[in-house]
Amino acid sequence: EAAGFGDLRAYIRDIPDYPRPGIVFRDITPLLLDPGALSAAVARIAAFASARDVQFVVAAEARGFILGGALARELGAGFVPARKPGKLPARTVSAEYILEYGVDALEMHADALAHGANVLVHDDLLATGGTARALCDLVEQLGGHVVGCAFLAELSFLGGRERLAPFDVHALVDYPSERA
Ligand code: PRP
Ligand code: MG
Repeated sequence: EAAGFGDLRAYIRDIPDYPRPGIVFRDITPLLLDPGALSAAVARIAAFASARDVQFVVAAEARGFILGGALARELGAGFVPARKPGKLPARTVSAEYILEYGVDALEMHADALAHGANVLVHDDLLATGGTARALCDLVEQLGGHVVGCAFLAELSFLGGRERLAPFDVHALVDYPSERA
């Protein structure tokens, strides 16, 4: 792994009052801009997953795709996209999740996973856990085995980790409160 990158929090930028007043947006684009930090992030997530015999990385549109492909390549695994409804061309399975206002869904191709395949679930951020829970549900609908859920960052004050029980959850950076 690229040494000297320390706490990757230093590469995640706070944008106060986005997208709404009182919300601090954790912007990972500075981390993506820095080749060393980007490499360290992929290496550290891969290190969490390396002993788990990962065959596929499943990631959520859109921001989960950024590191998801790199992670799959790093782990020698395949990549499975989970997309917003209507975007995938072949037969799909679907999982709904609750948003602050209403319901959304993610879809995955029905033939994406071999039964019993070991899957690493990935997204950039774990907030309420709705998105990642939907990813786990999709994997289980296809008979896959979630071997872990790995994120760049976690907003632990929102309790998303509890919604992913009993799966093993790993995040490189934690934000224990909205302001910290
Ligand atoms: C953001 C983020 C995660 C999700 C986390 O995605 O990229 O996917 O929210 O929130 P949750 O844990 O409460 O579900 P968003 O839906 O904003 O879409 P994007 O990735 O397409 O930007
Ligand atoms: Mg997202």
